[in-house]
Amino acid sequence: MKARVLSGVQPSGNLHIGNYLGALSNWVRIQHDYESLFCIVDLHAVTVYQKPDELRAQILETAGIFLASGIDPKASAIFVQSSVPGHAELAWMLTCVTPLGWLERMTQFKTKAAAQQTIGDGLLQYPVLMSADILLYQAAIVPVGDDQSQHLELTRDIAQRFNSLYGETFVMPSTNLPSVGARVMGLDDPAVKMSKSAPGSSHAVGLLDSPDRIRKVISRATTDSNPAVDFETMGPGVKNLLGIFQAFGGHTADQMHAQFSGMRYGDLKKQVAEMVITHLEPFQARYRRITSEPGYLESVLKDGADRANAISYGTIDLVKRRMGLYTESPNCIQDPAKAVA
Ligand code: TRP
Repeated sequence: MKARVLSGVQPSGNLHIGNYLGALSNWVRIQHDYESLFCIVDLHAVTVYQKPDELRAQILETAGIFLASGIDPKASAIFVQSSVPGHAELAWMLTCVTPLGWLERMTQFKTKAAAQQTIGDGLLQYPVLMSADILLYQAAIVPVGDDQSQHLELTRDIAQRFNSLYGETFVMPSTNLPSVGARVMGLDDPAVKMSKSAPGSSHAVGLLDSPDRIRKVISRATTDSNPAVDFETMGPGVKNLLGIFQAFGGHTADQMHAQFSGMRYGDLKKQVAEMVITHLEPFQARYRRITSEPGYLESVLKDGADRANAISYGTIDLVKRRMGLYTESPNCIQDPAKAVA
């Protein structure tokens, strides 16, 4: 049996080249080697207020971007978290074995809470819901960026605690895939990872941005005080631009040296912009085709949710039995003894 991979993305809009090069392109590469599940985590999105119409549109946009990136809906289940009731159900059960102190220690909680006037309980529970996303499918591998590694550690702690209280139930998820993708930094601030929520219009290149906008944003990117590319002394901004070019073009280090040593930054930026545009044009054409077919995205999401639900019933039934909750197992599709790999 193939090992199961699960990852999640918030439908917050503005998916950018960092998401593509760091995550989506990897998922595409590995999707046939594993049983892959890719979840659009709308229940996580509403831990802070979202305008309903915008959220709805962004869920479909995210699904469209998954498909345009090359995630194959026949191989991978693409689905929306709230279409699978098991996520919220398991989250409650896990909440009951999670010490409050573990959640209050989460750095993402502390950062997000500091930005809110009133702190919703959902913000505190966020990592428990994420643990439920993972444990519901007994996922062995969870490809996420560094910023999520504390949440993954917590998932393991919760799984361990549940297993020691109620008996072997959950597979321990491992933190990542052996090969991770390129780490794209902010164009305006190469000290931070490119982010969907960073303020400022010169931070990221969105996957759906027009060629003009791409040229403009890249032309404003932070470089360093050298006049031209010097591989020995370059700063993080120049390194980031070269990294983007290399990740899209698939060039070797030698090719990069030969092409860019001594190049002035204006020319470097033009070449990086054209490389990005060349790759995003066919991507955007696929996106337009996929999203212009009435009902297609919805049918992909329905099929993904059906597959995810079928797996989730087995885990929910097992967890209920372990905890002594009442179950008639109407939905149980597997022998609980076999549910743990
Ligand atoms: N918290 C993740 C993020 O912000 C998104 C996420 C939710 C996720 N559930 C998940 C990632 C499960 C991996 C697995 O990036």
